[in-house]
Amino acid sequence: MKIAIASGLVVSALAVGAFVSYSWADEPAAQDVSPIYGVSIPEGYRDWKFIAPAQEAPPLDELRAVLGNDIAIDAYKKGTLPFPDGSILVKLAYKRKQSTEFAPATVPGAPTTVQVMVKDSKKYPDSHGWGFGRFVNGKPVDVKQHETCLACHVGNVVDHDYVFTRYAP
Ligand code: HEC
Repeated sequence: MKIAIASGLVVSALAVGAFVSYSWADEPAAQDVSPIYGVSIPEGYRDWKFIAPAQEAPPLDELRAVLGNDIAIDAYKKGTLPFPDGSILVKLAYKRKQSTEFAPATVPGAPTTVQVMVKDSKKYPDSHGWGFGRFVNGKPVDVKQHETCLACHVGNVVDHDYVFTRYAP
């Protein structure tokens, strides 16, 4: 009898644990979505197609790579502007590091941020259809940082649907 009760408790504790730590498919936990926009890191993004590299001067001193999902890549290839709903762009950033194996080579050091832009004109009518997310160690950064995204993208790339990166040949 005692054993039955004890194992019952273990089972329900596990069930509660599972419920708390996993969320339903396509519904990321609240702490994993960006403030203001509710953008999360898209699943499988690391295997998306490569659009272009970029490099940021010191003090950030970073190497970047911009990737896109199939809808975004298709838009780039056809020159479709504005980007259609469903387009997602992800920018990966790393500290710039001198190779220890071959001095003239620069290689990715520690990862710094993963940044995301999601096109959904119905969900984001006030930001030209784009939702933004910046993540460090998989967690979104604060509201203050997210308040900066729109101004810089809108201020500099009006003629390219607020997207800086062009497709590198
Ligand atoms: C001060 C200017 C500036 C701010 C602020 C800024 N970005 Fe960008 N962003 C850039 C530039 C420049 C690029 C082009 C790639 C590069 O140089 O790193 C870029 C590229 C991107 C890209 C790849 C698509 C593209 O437009 O090229 C994403 C995704 C992105 N930024 C997300 C964000 C998010 C999310 C925020 C806010 C948390 C943000 N950015 C804030 C300047 C900015």
